[in-house]
Amino acid sequence: MGTETRRSREDWDALWHEVTESFSPGAPVQERDLFAGRQDQLRTLVDTVHQRGRHAIVFGERGVGKTSLTNILGLMLRSPRREVVAVKVNADPGDSFHSLWRKVFKRMNYEVQRDGGPPVVRTFADDHPVELTPDDVQLELSNFGPGQVPLIVLDEFDRIEDERVTRLTADTIKALSDYSVNATVIVVGVARDVTDLIKGHESIARSLVQVRMPRMSQDELGQIIVSRYGKCGLTTTDEALWKMTFLARGIPYYAHLLGMHAARAAIGRESLHVARDDVRAAETAAVAELDASIKDAYFTAVRSQRGEETLFAPVLLACALARTDELGAFQQAAVTAPLARVLPGKNYAPTTFAFHMNAFCDAQRRRVLERFGEPRNQRYRFSDPLMPPFVVVKGLADGLISDDIAEVFENRRPLRLADRE
Ligand SMILES: Nc1ncnc2c1ncn2[C@@H]1O[C@H](COP(=O)(O)OP(=O)(O)OP(=O)(O)O)[C@@H](O)[C@H]1O
Ligand SMILES: [Mg+2]
Repeated sequence: MGTETRRSREDWDALWHEVTESFSPGAPVQERDLFAGRQDQLRTLVDTVHQRGRHAIVFGERGVGKTSLTNILGLMLRSPRREVVAVKVNADPGDSFHSLWRKVFKRMNYEVQRDGGPPVVRTFADDHPVELTPDDVQLELSNFGPGQVPLIVLDEFDRIEDERVTRLTADTIKALSDYSVNATVIVVGVARDVTDLIKGHESIARSLVQVRMPRMSQDELGQIIVSRYGKCGLTTTDEALWKMTFLARGIPYYAHLLGMHAARAAIGRESLHVARDDVRAAETAAVAELDASIKDAYFTAVRSQRGEETLFAPVLLACALARTDELGAFQQAAVTAPLARVLPGKNYAPTTFAFHMNAFCDAQRRRVLERFGEPRNQRYRFSDPLMPPFVVVKGLADGLISDDIAEVFENRRPLRLADRE
């Protein structure tokens, strides 16, 4: 577009930085107006905080936006009438019940007035030097006045290795519920299914509101990109936006990564309009910049002995292109058509690539795929949801597939965006 006013090199550099700052592929969202979608989940959590004796569990795949959701919840609960005392902690693999709740109590403080002297700030943890029990937690949380409501978010709960912590936290939540304490606990963790997260403590499921975080819709991903472009004065085409949100496969991390790199490419050629070629440049940049753990797992999964040509990389690419159900699972048969497109004219029989798919389920190939289901109806899925978008974007960046092949297995439709510029 040639309509923009003349800008100096410094202006373009400043815009480049503005774009880089407004996208956050590496960090949860902290600002309300940059948070896309998730209205149902937010509403449920706000209701939970407002109801005595209710607590919640937020679960979903890695990277779908669980932490961002609880950040925005904290912002939404600000009210002049009631102060929400929000405390958020990340669980560590080695945490005990004591160390987990001590982290919470270290972040809750109060002032003590000493005769004549200045007030002294003490944390709740100062009052509990010895082993914390569920009863201590219940008592402390009951001590808040009616004008203050504690909200405790226990993030990364799935990382805790000791099952006793789950049981004692379950007991605590149950006691808070039974005594109708005006405090809300939100447990957050990576899990496909809520029972994975509470490991056999189904009794707490009754006092917990379950908030499932699905992958984001393509519309929501579009919103992530256009809201930031709008803020920076950038526009894009429907086609470019469709492609970025298609490639992201419901994972907001990729919408940030591709959206940011495409914008930088446009700015690099001194344009405020992000077009299809900028998305192409973003594919290469995204592959280069991607989280090292995903790249590492990919190269281990497809490596071949002594440099020989093997089918591992094309079969993994075909798996990433296979049509899946809403849980990301696909059958072996669904890989045939994409493989024929990736390697035209070869017509590999399923028995040939079955070997590769099974090998992907081994530890040696990082269990990049998981196999499950009855022997007659076996299905596969990528164990890391961040992997398939990488595999496809890499396939495009390396020229192994074209856009047409990447998209042929999906139906295209216009995106619905709330405030399209
Ligand atoms: N609603 C949203 N709008 C815009 N960006 C989002 C949204 N949700 C998540 N993101 C972005 O997606 C990425 C992952 O988000 P977040 O860290 O909140 O996910 P998570 O589910 O907590 O991940 P993990 O399982 O690794 O803890 C971040 O880059 C974040 O900025
Ligand atoms: Mg998180």
